[in-house]
Amino acid sequence: MSFFISFEGCEGCGKSTQAKLLAENLQLLGYSTCLTHEPGGTPLGEELRRCLKRAREGAIAPEAELLLFAAARAQLTLDVILPALEEDRIVICDRYSDSTVAYQGYGRGLDLDTVSTVNLTATRGLSPDLVVLLDMDPSRALARKRLPRDRFEHEGLEFHERVRKGYLKLAQAEPARWFVLDATNPPSISAQSVYERVATSLDKSTVSHDLPA
Ligand code: TYD
Repeated sequence: MSFFISFEGCEGCGKSTQAKLLAENLQLLGYSTCLTHEPGGTPLGEELRRCLKRAREGAIAPEAELLLFAAARAQLTLDVILPALEEDRIVICDRYSDSTVAYQGYGRGLDLDTVSTVNLTATRGLSPDLVVLLDMDPSRALARKRLPRDRFEHEGLEFHERVRKGYLKLAQAEPARWFVLDATNPPSISAQSVYERVATSLDKSTVSHDLPA
């Protein structure tokens, strides 16, 4: 069966680790998975990623930033995510359209309707079946990041606090589709919770609720 899961959260919250662990656990059970990430996952997306993350002199206009993330997403959706879903694979994406709502919408302060229209074009209307949000205080999360810092890690704490609030608002608005985890828990505990939540969303008759040994 096809299923689409995204992982969201601020820098340093451990979402890439959790996305990888989930893919590994599902593969051990025989599921065909496709693990990818944003921005990136395609040659164009990786070029845009480098461009978006590089610390530079002079700011990138928020509107330009929005469209660059959208361009990377459009390519990933068309080339990687939609084909994998058509092949009945479970797609696990480290960040997707909700990152744009949180960072460019709540963080940068762009109009949320504009962000949503751009997202709709980039995703062709696709949205994750399940969004896993790894939530934690951004000051603690950022302290986990290694130097050198990228353009987003250079943003002030207020920016990251707005991003976090944005995520929590999105999660509150759609509790059935969002799964919020305390990202300060040990990674193995979070992995078990994510696995159990995903298992209840997949066909319960074929998925064991215990993590593979
Ligand atoms: P990355 O190294 O992937 O950060 P992380 O490991 O925390 O995911 O860098 C991606 C950065 O881009 C991250 O700071 C969040 C930001 N971002 C946006 O601002 N908007 C978006 O739509 C996406 C996908 C990412």
